[in-house]
Amino acid sequence: MGWRSSALRPLPGLLLLLPLSLPRALREAHCPEPCSCPPDGALRCPGPRAGLTRLSLTYLPVKVIPSQAFRGLNEVVKIEISQSDSLEKIEANAFDNLLNLSEILIQNTKNLLYIEPGAFTSLPRLKYLSICNTGIRKLPDVTKIFSSEFNFILEICDNLHITTIPGNAFQGMNNESITLKLYGNGFEEIQSHAFNGTTLISLELKQNAHLEKMHNGAFRGVTGPSILDISSTKLQSLPSYGLESIQTLIATSSYSLKKLPSREKFTNLLDATLTYPSHCCAFRNLPTREQNFSFSIFENFSKQCENTARKPNDEMLLLHGALSVAHCFS
Ligand SMILES: *[C@@H]1O[C@H](CO)[C@@H](O)[C@H](O)[C@H]1NC(C)=O
Ligand SMILES: *[C@@H]1O[C@H](CO)[C@@H](O)[C@H](O)[C@H]1NC(C)=O
Ligand SMILES: *[C@@H]1O[C@H](CO)[C@@H](O)[C@H](O)[C@H]1NC(C)=O
Ligand SMILES: *[C@@H]1O[C@H](CO)[C@@H](O)[C@H](O)[C@H]1NC(C)=O
Ligand SMILES: *[C@@H]1O[C@H](CO)[C@@H](O)[C@H](O)[C@H]1NC(C)=O
Repeated sequence: MGWRSSALRPLPGLLLLLPLSLPRALREAHCPEPCSCPPDGALRCPGPRAGLTRLSLTYLPVKVIPSQAFRGLNEVVKIEISQSDSLEKIEANAFDNLLNLSEILIQNTKNLLYIEPGAFTSLPRLKYLSICNTGIRKLPDVTKIFSSEFNFILEICDNLHITTIPGNAFQGMNNESITLKLYGNGFEEIQSHAFNGTTLISLELKQNAHLEKMHNGAFRGVTGPSILDISSTKLQSLPSYGLESIQTLIATSSYSLKKLPSREKFTNLLDATLTYPSHCCAFRNLPTREQNFSFSIFENFSKQCENTARKPNDEMLLLHGALSVAHCFS
């Protein structure tokens, strides 16, 4: 207590000391024990290391995180790599067979262009993987993680150069249930069977400003999702297949979404937040679950609904794009 305030008191002296002492302090912070971080080289953090549960690696000077970089760190629970502009590549098996590892964060590494397939392998207790604000061109391969944790959260955000979610992208990641927070990326397209083999609690696709196409079979082979957020995307339509499990649909600022699949497809919908009054019309007069709906406000749009072209047995409810951009917040 006392030493702290007295140490801070001679401020001019402290400022004089800073230029000398800071670089050394930072160098140590960049390469914590037991790691070695040769500039432009490869990171090595050999274990075992008793009591080491968290590894925070910031301002790394290395270019590569090689295969088996963390071999033997049996007790490590969390590895965070951030603010490292030198980092260019993460090799296959970089994170391999770390049986206690539950969180991996890779953030703000804008020159990280490659994460090789199999970089994340056999991590049975992994619960949270976050890869945000990197330069990668492809969705990272997560199919060899084989986690068996309940509600695994995968966060892929602000990766402006990833354009596609391919088929089976999340197969093998986790055998229980997952939340996918995939926002702010460069996605343009979601392919058929993208989420095949997963149990999806929540799928967040918001703020993928270039996302235009979601294949009609995107939800093939999926259990869920209960929550779907497609806000601030350019999606023009939703798949007509696989909407039964959605309980919460969020589509604010979805100005390109001019038509919605018929309301009968949303058999479990409890709550929806939509962009156009016309969207809301699609859900008016639902035969069941009315009590659960927060749509009463949309009753006032009924006139607009009546003016909306609709063919009785059409799968799609056709809506006019020229309607006002009123938000249908519930
Ligand atoms: C996980 O860590 C604990 C101590 O935190 C250790 O006793 C155990 O051996 C580790 N598990 C494995 C599989 O290495
Ligand atoms: C997931 O895998 C674990 C470990 O193999 C197993 O105990 C668990 O029952 C599996 N869960 C499901 C839903 O299959
Ligand atoms: C969907 O996943 C299953 C395994 O879960 C696999 O057998 C099947 O080939 C996949 N379908 C497609 C079209 O990729
Ligand atoms: C939906 O309504 C049913 C009965 O009408 C009720 O039992 C249930 O709790 C409601 N759910 C929510 C989320 O309000
Ligand atoms: C619908 O409009 C009427 C008259 O303007 C208003 O009294 C009522 O509160 C509105 N209903 C909702 C749910 O906003």
